Amino acid sequence: MEKSEEEAKLIFSGVQPTGNLHLGNYLGAIKNWVELQKKTKCIFCIVDLHAITTQDNQNRILKNTREVAAAYIASGIDPKKNIIFVQSNVTGHSELSWILSCHTPIGWLNRMTQFKDKAGKNKERAALGLYSYPVLMAADILLYKSTHVPVGEDQKQHLELSRDIAQAFNRYYDVNFFPVPEPIITGNATRVMSLKDGSKKMSKSDPSDQSRVNLSDDSEEIKKKIQKAKTDSEPFPSSLENLDDRPEIKNLINIFSSLKNNSPEETIAQYLSKDFKYFKEELSNLIIERVSKISSEMQKLLRDYTYLDSILIQGSERANEIAETNIKELKKIIGFFGS
Ligand code: AMP
Ligand code: TRP
Repeated sequence: MEKSEEEAKLIFSGVQPTGNLHLGNYLGAIKNWVELQKKTKCIFCIVDLHAITTQDNQNRILKNTREVAAAYIASGIDPKKNIIFVQSNVTGHSELSWILSCHTPIGWLNRMTQFKDKAGKNKERAALGLYSYPVLMAADILLYKSTHVPVGEDQKQHLELSRDIAQAFNRYYDVNFFPVPEPIITGNATRVMSLKDGSKKMSKSDPSDQSRVNLSDDSEEIKKKIQKAKTDSEPFPSSLENLDDRPEIKNLINIFSSLKNNSPEETIAQYLSKDFKYFKEELSNLIIERVSKISSEMQKLLRDYTYLDSILIQGSERANEIAETNIKELKKIIGFFGS
């Protein structure tokens, strides 16, 4: 029998275990996964091989890995229904990454803006792994023949590259092996900005803790951060028009709408003629309600991580099964000895 459209879909996504999980990670990615898992088969990875591309994280990687796993489950990802696992536990990721790197022109990688941002001025000293990071990401997705990838807006370019790589491989071997993965970048908070500067995205690596709401922040911290979040001296906006010139305001409205599951227009209508102080109070209550539920559940899971570890071990077994089958087929396509 033909598979239904939903049955034929496979969702894959991941978060790097680099510490300071924040509201941007939740609203831009994890919150959407919680909805998607209801209808579709999903694989959620903790991408530790990606996390070692920046060297400031390596001695905390185990702690951060468990923290991301806890955040997935605490946010509502069902570990029975979905596969949750750690990237380095499935060797197929590294293996496929090499194969795909042989089908990725350097010119494509030279366009990647994230590398340019992260490498900074001294590109000569940047690690090769940081440069080939997007090829490993393509391997993550394609290893499972995933069809859909829900991420925040900052990953759009990497996903376009994954699509190009899938097509390049299929073309080269004249096969239809890899599906061309579709990005899912949805919701009102696809790009959550820093609370201090509306031109920068909220980021784990921002040296200022005031720039982000961490999933581990307590109510007092969240309240203070929102109170101090940058705004301007103009009144609460009356429409979405011209909000591009007020990025900090737009950001707070988007965060509010994302948590409320309504549109920015509705949020504006609701707070029209109210002052910012009032809006910020309501916003911080909303954030506190959601984040404190997640963080207390995370604390519980992290107190005794036997359960958490057992999820990750089972997850890697399930992921490995799919990966091994696909790698076998792939080796046959290439024509390697023994395949
Ligand atoms: P990372 O922390 O880089 O591993 O990102 C994990 C997921 O969170 C990816 O899907 C990102 O696109 C998403 N993400 C990270 N930062 C933000 C942000 N500021 N706004 C929206 N989504 C984000
Ligand atoms: N590069 C992604 C990020 O920084 C994380 C990631 C790695 C990923 N592999 C992936 C996301 C595969 C989606 C699918 O956010």
